[in-house]
Amino acid sequence: MFDTLSRQPDDPLLALIGLFRADPRPGKVDLGVGVYRDEAGRTPIFRAVKAAEKRLVETQPTKAYVGPEGDALFLERLWALTAGEAAGGLASTGVQTPGGSGALRLAADLMARMGVRRIWLGLPSWPNHAAIFKAAGVDVATYPFFDVPSQSVLFDRMEEALSGAAPGDAVLLHASCHNPTGAALSSAQWVAVSGLIAGRGLLPLVDIAYQGYGRGLDADAAGLRGLLAKVPEAFVAVSCSKSFGLYRERTGAIFATASSADSALTVRSNLVGLARTSYSMPPDHGAAVVATILGDDALKADWMAELEEMRGRIVSIRERLAKGLARRWQVLTAVAGQEGMFSLLPLEETDVMRLRAEHGIYMPGSGRINIAGLKSAEVDDVIAKFLNL
Ligand SMILES: Cc1ncc(COP(=O)(O)O)c(C=O)c1O
Repeated sequence: MFDTLSRQPDDPLLALIGLFRADPRPGKVDLGVGVYRDEAGRTPIFRAVKAAEKRLVETQPTKAYVGPEGDALFLERLWALTAGEAAGGLASTGVQTPGGSGALRLAADLMARMGVRRIWLGLPSWPNHAAIFKAAGVDVATYPFFDVPSQSVLFDRMEEALSGAAPGDAVLLHASCHNPTGAALSSAQWVAVSGLIAGRGLLPLVDIAYQGYGRGLDADAAGLRGLLAKVPEAFVAVSCSKSFGLYRERTGAIFATASSADSALTVRSNLVGLARTSYSMPPDHGAAVVATILGDDALKADWMAELEEMRGRIVSIRERLAKGLARRWQVLTAVAGQEGMFSLLPLEETDVMRLRAEHGIYMPGSGRINIAGLKSAEVDDVIAKFLNL
C-alpha cells in the first residue's frame, strides 16, 4: 500500500536549517530561523519559565490526565491576557491546544463541521495557514495584504476583496507582528475591517502568535480586542510558543466568542469532541508553566520585563537595519516601523542565493528575514554585504 504514496518535498525552512548547520564559515548569519534569538545567538528560556518549572517539579501532585479541554486556570488567565479588560464580559469559551498550530487546526476542523465553505487569507501569510485549512477540507481564498516592492499594506484592495466574500465565509487576520511581513494595520484600519466583517456577516479568526514582540502586550492585542467588541462570533488562536518561549512544549489555545453563553458551550463541546478524535488531550507542561506565571504577580512582572527587553532588542536592530538598507533601498525605511521578528525584503532569489553563497547569510528564497537572528555586533557588517549585492 505504501507504493500508492508519493514522496513529499521537505519544508524549505527546515531544509534551510540543515544548510546553515552544514556551513563551516565562522561568520555565518542565520536570518531564516523562526524563533527569537538573543545577543549571544541563543533562544533563551525565560527566567520566569525556569522559576515556574522548578515550582511545578516541587509541587505537582500527579501526572494523571488533564482532559481534552486542558487546564481551566491556564485558559482563564491566557484569555485575560489576550482579550484584556473585556475578557469577562464576552460570552466566550476556550480549549487548550498543542501550540498555535493545534489551535488553528481545531478551528479549521470546527469550520468544516459548521459548513464554512472558505476562509480568506491575506497574501502573503504564514505558509502553514493555507496548508492547515486545506487539510481540514476548508477552501482557501486570498485577499491582497502586502506589496513587497513598496513595503506597504494594500488596505484598499484588502477591503475590496473582502467586500466580495459571501456571508458565512471566514477571514483570517494576524493580530500583530505579521508573519512574514511585519506589517501592521493602523487603528483606523482595524476599525474599518472590523466594521466590514461585522457588516457582511463574516466569521473572523484572529491568529495571535507574537503578543508582546511588536508594540507591547496590550498594544499587540488592541486591534483584536476592538474587533471582538464588534462581531457576534469570532475565533482567536493563541500561541504561547514565542510570547513565553515555550516552542517545544506545544502550548496554545483556541478561544471562541459567541452570541450567548449557551452558544459558547455548544462550541466548546464540539471543540472538545474534535480534540478527542485528534490528539485526545493537549500536553500539560507548558500550560501549567503559563498558568503559574500569570497567576503570580512577581513571576508575571519578571516575564513581562524580559519580554520587553526582547522587544527592545528587536526594535533597536530594526532601526539600525532600516537606516542602513535605506541607503540602497529607500523603501526599506519601512522596516523600522514594522513589528515583530519578521520583514519581507524586496530581493530577487538570485540575491538571496548570492548572500548565502558569498557571505554565509541565510534566509529563505522569499526574502523573509528574522530580525532577531541578528546580533547587534553583526548589523553593520550584514548591511554592508546587502549594499554590495
Ligand atoms: C503566524 C503564526 N501563527 C501560528 C504559529 C504557530 O505556532 P506554534 O504552533 O509553534 O505555537 C506560528 C509559528 O510560527 C506563526 O508564525
